Amino acid sequence: MAHNLIALAALKRASGCKLLYSIKALPLQAVLEQTLAYVDGFSVSSLFEARVAAAILAGAGDIHLTTPGMRVDECEELAQICTHISFNSLSQQQRLGSKLESVSCGLRVNPKLSFLDDNRFDPCRPVSKLGVDIRALEQRGLPTNIQGLHWHTVFSCKTVKPMQKTIARMQGLLTNNRSQLQWINLGGGYLYPQLNDYSAFIALIQALRRQFKVDVFIEPGKAVVGDVGFLVSEVIDCFESDGKNIAVLDSSVNQHPEVFEYQKSPAILSPEPGEQAVVLAGSSCLAGDVFGEYDLAHVPKIGDKIIFKDVGAYSLVKANRFNGYPLPDIYGLNGKACAHWKQDSYAAFYQQWNTGDG
Ligand SMILES: Cc1ncc(COP(=O)(O)O)c(C=O)c1O
Repeated sequence: MAHNLIALAALKRASGCKLLYSIKALPLQAVLEQTLAYVDGFSVSSLFEARVAAAILAGAGDIHLTTPGMRVDECEELAQICTHISFNSLSQQQRLGSKLESVSCGLRVNPKLSFLDDNRFDPCRPVSKLGVDIRALEQRGLPTNIQGLHWHTVFSCKTVKPMQKTIARMQGLLTNNRSQLQWINLGGGYLYPQLNDYSAFIALIQALRRQFKVDVFIEPGKAVVGDVGFLVSEVIDCFESDGKNIAVLDSSVNQHPEVFEYQKSPAILSPEPGEQAVVLAGSSCLAGDVFGEYDLAHVPKIGDKIIFKDVGAYSLVKANRFNGYPLPDIYGLNGKACAHWKQDSYAAFYQQWNTGDG
């Protein structure tokens, strides 16, 4: 993770942007603490995330929130915790704005520029629920108490082009509302350390800051923790099905639900690749609970370890106990030292489903 934080800090220094870690990717305490030396704060999506962010930052950083799901009864506490809130809709802003006057409020804008073929990840898909249609804001102007604009439009993006096009699309709105804008939040979705053109990114940020005299924030999640983290599993059964080798693991897509959601196989650290086709399957009852078909050096045997890599983002945070299998144990790896941080238990499972005597 340090390599990503160092790269992000270098981009921050060169461009003058402010860096928030989007804690939805992995809100693990040790991860949040490690980011502290590099970030200007955290970005959050809910009251619970905001509370965790506040506990870790202890007043020493910004907390930005945007969500379609803000609840009226949470506003009082959100107003105390958050420094910046971007309303997801004009309706949300009109209903809740007066309860959040102590916060620097912005609007999430939907620029209506799609860069993704798969609309499961596309915030700019038709009939999107994410952000206020830019055309509505161009027609009616920004509400007077809005100090910032937020947009987030891409997914695991390594090129600066979408950012260039989006900022070009925003020029009119930014220019017409220059006098009231204090900040712009460019969201996450870019794998910033792997960007194809650092100098183009730096030029964009510098131009925004110079032209509109605003603070510019980025709020990556996956760019911080995506290429870190391992899922260590063990083979607990092997057999053939329709002539193919199946290895059943003591893990499942419960522990990395995006494998099933997006039908994307995680990369493998061990064993070595080779010529033997093997289906690595999870141990839940779901027929599609399969990590994928891999070509490995040998057909795994019961007891062999299978280690998936680059699973840091959106895995633990989406993990569940479907079928009564525990959440994964969590270990912290520091050089060669390995600390056992967390273990799920039957007591926690029982408690989750216990409805009490009443
Ligand atoms: C508003 C917003 N900001 C930031 C992020 C973080 O995105 P990523 O982890 O792809 O950088 C997300 C992800 O869904 C998001 O919706």
